[in-house]
Amino acid sequence: MLGGAVAGAGMLMIGRSHAASGVRPAGRQPWWKEAVIYEIYPRSFRDSNGDGIGDLPGILEKLPYIRDLGVDTIWLAPIFQSPNRDNGYDISDYRAIMPEFGTMDDFDRLMAKASSLGLRIILDLVVNHTSDQHPWFQKSRAAKDSPYRDYYIWRDTPQGHPPNNWPSVWGGSAWASDPATGSSYLHLFSPQQPDLNWDNPAVREEVFSIMKFWLDKGVAGFRMDVITMISKIPSFRDMTPEELKAPEYVYAAGPHLHAYLREMNDRVLSHYDVMTVGEAYGMRARDIPLFTDSARRELDMVFAFDIVHVDRQGWRKIDWPLSKLKQVYAAAGKPRSPDSWNTVFLDNHDQPRAVSRFGNDSPPFREASAKAIATMLLTQCGTPFIYQGEELGMTNLPFSGVEDFDDVQVPIQWEARVKRQGVDPDAFLESLKDMGRDNARSPMQWDATRNAGFTTANRPWFRVNPNYTEINAQACMQDPNSVYHYFQALLALRRKYPALIHGTYQDLDPDHHAVFLYARELGRSRLLILMNMSDRGFTYESSSLTRASLLISNMQHRGATQGVTWLEPWEARIYRA
Ligand code: NOJ
Ligand code: CA
Repeated sequence: MLGGAVAGAGMLMIGRSHAASGVRPAGRQPWWKEAVIYEIYPRSFRDSNGDGIGDLPGILEKLPYIRDLGVDTIWLAPIFQSPNRDNGYDISDYRAIMPEFGTMDDFDRLMAKASSLGLRIILDLVVNHTSDQHPWFQKSRAAKDSPYRDYYIWRDTPQGHPPNNWPSVWGGSAWASDPATGSSYLHLFSPQQPDLNWDNPAVREEVFSIMKFWLDKGVAGFRMDVITMISKIPSFRDMTPEELKAPEYVYAAGPHLHAYLREMNDRVLSHYDVMTVGEAYGMRARDIPLFTDSARRELDMVFAFDIVHVDRQGWRKIDWPLSKLKQVYAAAGKPRSPDSWNTVFLDNHDQPRAVSRFGNDSPPFREASAKAIATMLLTQCGTPFIYQGEELGMTNLPFSGVEDFDDVQVPIQWEARVKRQGVDPDAFLESLKDMGRDNARSPMQWDATRNAGFTTANRPWFRVNPNYTEINAQACMQDPNSVYHYFQALLALRRKYPALIHGTYQDLDPDHHAVFLYARELGRSRLLILMNMSDRGFTYESSSLTRASLLISNMQHRGATQGVTWLEPWEARIYRA
C-alpha cells in the first residue's frame, strides 16, 4: 500500500484526474475547494545566494519539489519590503519586494515558473496594520494636520496616558505615546505595527489598489492577516476584566467588518477568479459563515482557531483529550450554511510543529505519528494547508532559555506576563518551548550537509534543528516509506476520491479515547478513515470495518477480519467501504 507497504500495484497508477473514481458532484466547483495549499515562510525555505536568508530564487529552485508532492497552490508568507520587526508582517512598501528576498524580476520569474508547473501562488495581505517605517505612518506621525494623520488611529490624552485599557494581543498596552505630537496611536500587535484606520475611505482605496496591483500580476488570491480586526469598536470603551482575558474577541467585533469585506469583494475580488482565506482570529466558530457563505460575497474561507485552542489556554499549554479534537472536526463537518467552505490546518508559521504537538516526535513514533496526523489533515472537510517541512515530519526545536527565541512576540510577552503579571518564569518558558512560534521558523531541512542544505553561509539567520542529519528532504526522497512519500500518496488518493473533498462527514466512534474513526461519503462512494492516535497498540472492533477494503496505510499489516483488527501505535488506514 502506498507510503507504507504495497497493497496493490493499481494504487500506484493514481493520476491527477478527479474523474478516475467515485462520484463527481454536479456543476463546476471553484478551483480552491479542490486545491491543496503549501505555505512557504520565505525567510526559512531556501537561501540561493549564501547570505543566510531564504529568498525568491531559492523558492524557484524548489518549485519542482513542491509540485511533485502533489499540491497545486503556494501561499507565500509576506515577501514585501519590511524592517522585519515581525518577519515581514510589518510592511513598509506593499509594492516592493523585500531586498533580502530578491527583486520584482525575481518575483515575475517565480510566477512564470510556477505557472509553467501548474502551480498557483497566493500572497499574504497584511493590512490591519503597517510597519511604523511605512511612509504613510511617517507622515501621519509628523503632524496633526498631515493628510495622512487619519490613516492611523490617534488619541490625545493628558500626559500621554493610554486612552483606554486595551492590551496588545501579545501583552502590554495597545497604545504607544508618540513624542512628535504627544498623541498615542493604536497597535494591536507590536508598537512597530501601528493599526490602519479602515474607517477612512482613503485607507480602503489604498488597500484595494494594492490588491489590484498584485492580482494584475497574476497572483491567485490572498491569505488575509488578522482581517477580523480591521474595524474597531467606535466607543473605544475600556474592556471588562473578563474581556481582558481574551481581547481578540473585542478586536474582532467591529461593527463595519462585514461591510468592509463586502466592499472589498465588490470592488476587487469579484473581478478575478481568485481565492481568499482570512485569518479569523477572535472569531467564534458559529460566526464563520458570516464570512464564508458565498451568498454574502465576502471571503471564500477562513482559518478558524478552534484547533489551536484544543491544547492551549492563553499562553498556557493544557492537557487535551482526543474527544476535544474530534468535536472540533465534527462541528466543522456539519455544513455551517448552505454554501460555506472550511480550511484544515495544523501547522503554520505561528504554531508549533504538528508532530510534536498532536503526535509524538520521539524516535520510535515520529514517522508513524506524522503520517497518522497527515491522514487526518488531508481527509477532513475543507481545503488543506500544509506548512513547509510538515511533509518531512519536521519537529519542534530544542530551546534552553528565553534568549534562544527570535520571535518579536517573546520579549513583549515576557515583559507583560512574567515581569508585570508575576507569571512563574519556568512555567512560562516551558509553555514557550512547546508552543512558541519559532518552532516552525527554523530553516527547512533539505539534506544532511552543513546547515541542512538551507544555506552555504556560516550562519543562517536562525538556528537549524540539530536533527537535520536524520530528518531531511533528501533522506525522505530516498526512502519509499518516508513521511514525504506518504503525503504524496494521500494527496493522490484525494484526487482519486472526491468523497474526501466533497463528501459528508460522520464520526463513527466519538467516545473512544485513542481511536479516531470517521466516514466521508459522496453518493455511493464511502471512505473510512481510521487512526490510532496513541503510543499503545491494541485490538479494535468496529462493525463499520467488516466489509471494508484497504486503500492505504502507514503500516505493513493485515487489514480487518470480521470488523476486528490489531492497531499498532499511531497506525492509520483509509478504507473503501
Ligand atoms: C498573524 C500572523 O500570522 C503573525 O505571524 C503575525 O505576527 C500577526 N498576524 C501580526 O501581523
Ligand atoms: Ca539569500
